[in-house]
Amino acid sequence: MLDCLCVGLSTMDVIASVDGWPREDEKRRARAVVVDGGGPAGTAACVLGKYGLKTGILSFIGQDEWTPFIREGFRRHDVSTKSLRVVPGASNAVSMVLANARNGSRTIVWNARGLRGESLPVRAPRARCLHFDGHLMELSIRLAREGLRRGALTSFDCGSLKPGWEALAALTRVFIASSRFTRQLGLSVPAALLALRERFGFSVAVTEGARGVSFFDEKSRRVRRLPQRRFASVDTTGCGDVFHGAFLAAALRGRAFEESLRFAQEVAGEKSLRLGGRKGLPERRL
Ligand SMILES: Nc1ncnc2c1ncn2[C@@H]1O[C@H](COP(=O)(O)OP(=O)(O)OP(=O)(O)O)[C@@H](O)[C@H]1O
Ligand SMILES: [Mg+2]
Repeated sequence: MLDCLCVGLSTMDVIASVDGWPREDEKRRARAVVVDGGGPAGTAACVLGKYGLKTGILSFIGQDEWTPFIREGFRRHDVSTKSLRVVPGASNAVSMVLANARNGSRTIVWNARGLRGESLPVRAPRARCLHFDGHLMELSIRLAREGLRRGALTSFDCGSLKPGWEALAALTRVFIASSRFTRQLGLSVPAALLALRERFGFSVAVTEGARGVSFFDEKSRRVRRLPQRRFASVDTTGCGDVFHGAFLAAALRGRAFEESLRFAQEVAGEKSLRLGGRKGLPERRL
């Protein structure tokens, strides 16, 4: 049985590190260019694999020149690809990223052609945790329901407001959203945390980039914020995805909710010091 099956998107990231922001139609030499695997579920799986948890990725990828690279990325992080399905004729999701080395901001343009695989059959092995990024919503809802019946921990990285999020949230035990999601709800971070906790009863947190992470503290029954340590960030690509992987690695090794959030903050912050969601992963021990 797997420790964790990550369900959702795997992408290709082509990241150029630039000093400041270029002008339109300018030609500029990058500090460095890195090609890395990406996607919220894909990168979270790689982090879990790196920390020695038995991990699988369930994702639909395209059939093009990037396919072997994506597979190899998982293999290198000890992530099982038995549930990775190639969609015939589809292109892989490729993100072009400009990372501003002065503040770490990442600007992303991306596309994927014909990458709709949810109708293809796919094997979902048993796992003690299921982690969803919301990109395969119908399938995720079905798997979450089955997982809960078997006593699995269900986790949802809710990066933005997507149709079906409420149905998946209702089947989720750990819900960690981005601040973008709370803005889309039209609520402040504390108000969103209280409303979500009240409605769904799960463990809940919201990541707020360089500001830190806020969560509903079950002990005090209040919203608390854990400020983020300052880092000389050069690239925040994948920081959120890394945060989720590190959080689950700690939680699945038995750490408490707050302690797991603190560990994830350090891993994600250190990642921002280097280029690439996976290539930038720090060597920190769990
Ligand atoms: N500039 C930064 N400096 C230090 N840590 C950061 C920075 N940006 C992100 N982090 C770390 O990464 C975590 C997740 O970041 P963020 O809230 O931006 O995720 P996100 O909105 O899901 O983004 P994405 O999924 O696109 O990476 C933060 O809680 C923090 O620990
Ligand atoms: Mg995210």
